[in-house]
Amino acid sequence: MDTQAILQVENIQKHFPIKGGLFSPKGSKTVKAVDGVSFSLARGHTLGLVGESGCGKSTTGRMIARLMDPTGGRILIDGVDISQLAGRDLYNFRRKVQMIFQDPFASLNPRQTVGTAIAAPMLARKINPAGGLKNRVKELLEQVGLKPEHYNRFPHEFSGGQRQRVGIARAISLNPSVIVCDEPVSALDVSVQAQVVNLLQEIQRDTGVAYIFIAHDLSVVRHISHGVAVMYLGKIVEQGSREELFREPRHPYTQALLSAVPLPDPGQPASSKRSGSAEISRRRQTHPAAASSAPGVRCSAPWARNSSNAASAKSPDPPARLPRPATTQVWNPQPSLVCNRSNIKGAIH
Ligand SMILES: Nc1ncnc2c1ncn2[C@@H]1O[C@H](COP(=O)(O)OP(=O)(O)OP(=O)(O)O)[C@@H](O)[C@H]1O
Ligand SMILES: [Mg+2]
Repeated sequence: MDTQAILQVENIQKHFPIKGGLFSPKGSKTVKAVDGVSFSLARGHTLGLVGESGCGKSTTGRMIARLMDPTGGRILIDGVDISQLAGRDLYNFRRKVQMIFQDPFASLNPRQTVGTAIAAPMLARKINPAGGLKNRVKELLEQVGLKPEHYNRFPHEFSGGQRQRVGIARAISLNPSVIVCDEPVSALDVSVQAQVVNLLQEIQRDTGVAYIFIAHDLSVVRHISHGVAVMYLGKIVEQGSREELFREPRHPYTQALLSAVPLPDPGQPASSKRSGSAEISRRRQTHPAAASSAPGVRCSAPWARNSSNAASAKSPDPPARLPRPATTQVWNPQPSLVCNRSNIKGAIH
C-alpha cells in the first residue's frame, strides 16, 4: 500500500440501471457511468480529473464523497475502505471528504445566512471550537477572503465568486483530508476564477488538504494539479504527472484533447493550427484506439510505459504546443485555453 496516499481508488464502478422498452424490463440494461477507475492521491496533492462531458468525472467524485454508492470496487481513505460504510460509520467518515460544487448558489440555502450555513456542519457534530462557534465561523470567513461582518448576510447578497468562497469555507470547516472540487470555477468570471484557484492553493499549503479537481479548462488543471487523470467513457485512459502528461500525452484521446485547445500563439506555423474536431477526426482515423475506451491502452500511475501501448498510442506528430507552466505562483488565466465542448466535439458520436 502507498503509505503517502490519503486516497486510493481501486477499480470503482458505477452502473446505473436504465428503464428498458416494452420487451426489456427495468434493470436489464445499464449505463456504465464509471467502469473500473483506479488512482491514488497523496496528502496535500491535487489530482486533476479531465475528460469530455458525460465521461463519469462527477460520478467518480460523488462516489469518493459517498454521496453515491459504488456498484463495485474499493475506496480507501487513510487505508480504510469506506465504500461499504453505513450508519454511524458513514456519518463519521463524512467529515474527512468534502465537496465543492460548480454552482455555489444551488449549494446554499437562500433562507440561511452564510454564518449559519458555515456553522451547520460543526453544529451538527456538536463541535465547539475554542473561542466559540461564531468566532470560528468569522475566522473561516477571513480565511477565504471574506469579512467577519458578512456573517449575517444572505447568499443573494454575494457575487458568484464570494458565494464560492462561502462554499469553500463550509467545506474546510471540518478540516477534511480530501476535497472533491467539481468544476468549482467553471461558472465564474475569468478574473474571479484566478482568485478562487489561488485561494484553493493557499488553503492546500496551509492545511495539507488533498484535492480532486474536476475541470474542463486545461489551463486551470495544468496550473493547480500535481497529477492528471484523463477519463474517457467511464475509464481512465491515461494518468501521470502534470509535466509528463502535458509534455508528452501518449493516449490518442489525450493527444486529441490537448490538440483541441486553441493555440495562444498566432505566429505558429499553419500546419499546427488544426481545429480540435478536425484533429480528433484525423487521429481517430490514424488511431482507432481513440474511438473506443480501449481498456488495453489504459495506463496506471506511475505510468507503466508498456511498449505495445506506447506503440499504439504514439502519434507520428509532435504533441500540441501549450504554453510553459507559469513560473510565478499566481495564476494568470488565459480564456483561450478553455477546452470547451464544441472544441472536442467529434470525439463522441
Ligand atoms: N442518476 C443517474 N442515472 C442514470 N445515468 C446517470 C445518472 N447520473 C449520471 N448518469 C450518466 O452517467 C454518465 C456520467 O455522468 P457524469 O455526470 O459523471 O459526467 P461528467 O463527466 O461529470 O460530465 P460533465 O462534464 O458534463 O459534468 C452520463 O452518461 C450520465 O448521463
Ligand atoms: Mg460533471
